[in-house]
Amino acid sequence: MTSGGDAPGMNGAVRAVVRMSIFMGCEAYAIYEGYEGLVQGGSLIKQMHWDDVRGYLSEGGTLIGTARCKAFMERPGRLQGAKHMVMAGIDALVICGGDGSLTGADKFRKEWPGLLDELVAKKELTAEQKRTYQHLNIVGLVGSIDNDMSSTDATIGCYSSLARICEAIDCIDATAESHQRAFVIEVMGRHCGWLALMAGVSTSADFIFIPEKPPSENWEAEMCSIIRRHREMGKRKTIVIVAEGAHDLALGKVTPTRVKDLLSNDLKLDTRITTLGHVQRGGRPCAYDRMLSTLQGVEAVRAVLNATPDTPSPVICVIENKIVRKPLLKAVEDTLEVAKAIEAKDFSRAMHLRDAEFAEYHNAYTTTTATGHQPEKTTTQGPGKSSIPG
Ligand code: ADP
Ligand code: F6P
Repeated sequence: MTSGGDAPGMNGAVRAVVRMSIFMGCEAYAIYEGYEGLVQGGSLIKQMHWDDVRGYLSEGGTLIGTARCKAFMERPGRLQGAKHMVMAGIDALVICGGDGSLTGADKFRKEWPGLLDELVAKKELTAEQKRTYQHLNIVGLVGSIDNDMSSTDATIGCYSSLARICEAIDCIDATAESHQRAFVIEVMGRHCGWLALMAGVSTSADFIFIPEKPPSENWEAEMCSIIRRHREMGKRKTIVIVAEGAHDLALGKVTPTRVKDLLSNDLKLDTRITTLGHVQRGGRPCAYDRMLSTLQGVEAVRAVLNATPDTPSPVICVIENKIVRKPLLKAVEDTLEVAKAIEAKDFSRAMHLRDAEFAEYHNAYTTTTATGHQPEKTTTQGPGKSSIPG
């Protein structure tokens, strides 16, 4: 099943899970439209054969559909889901989604024995069916462009999305430079600044706003001073990246319009706003996401086959290029801790919790890009070349 926001690479995960399952002598099913498919059952639960996933690797989005399913948030929806799974003969579920989807999966597994009891009591399942399907194994794969899940270095989709953002900013750079304009670019990341930070690093944006590390109290003056300096150093364009979930130290929203007004009014820059929106989520997966989803899909099936009734549900992660299993619940809890730290305005904790390299990347960004450094003098290049930040 794929669930929650789609991400490039989800199809690669479906393909790998289907083919590895068949290779291991199992039957594979696709649940279409996320949890909605479990709740509705019928044609939304379909057996998948080897050929059914041909061509999946290079396709964007998710070909088996996804949904945000309200019914599954409530027990009666999950009761229907359990019934449809047993009726289809399914005893394990591999879910590729974000923290919401994986939270739902863990809850489903915990409730499973009670759900089967209730279905038997209501005579919707037989005692024999209950005996056969008494254990449900769940394995999570993290599919999200935001790279917001703790316990893994990368989520399936984040590098495709980052590449798309960089391509878009490269395009904007050309027109910005031609007109000497400023652009405020909003990127996705309702709760996570990874895309904005890494796009800042990768495109040498003049300033970035991310939820985990709000700018200083007098950020307006600070941002204008940095951009003014960059212009004085010869830069013909200005790029400011704002994460969807950006805010100031008091948690007041930092909007692209607010930033644009400052650039236009205080710096007198001809400024435009570009909201990249859902182009960041669609399109073909990059090579890394094809590899990651394949390796993780294979590992997910191994994890299903190794699981015992007492094994905590795992989530398949990548840490320092190794595909590893981590406890799903802990990964979700740690992820939610970041949101709590932000809410409590404990931003250093939020940066620390995000992952070990997050703060390093932020430092690398500020030292190399949003500089207070003096331009390096050089005689080997023409004016306005090597001395210009970015
Ligand atoms: P994502 O997986 O990308 O974080 P959502 O948070 O929208 O996306 O979750 C996707 C779906 O997972 C929801 O629409 C719902 O069906 C299910 N889900 C999320 N949280 C829960 C929960 N606490 N209990 C049960 N189901 C949940
Ligand atoms: O997939 C994650 C994400 O892209 C967030 O960064 C963004 O806020 C959200 O999904 C938007 O999703 P939708 O338009 O589906 O509500």
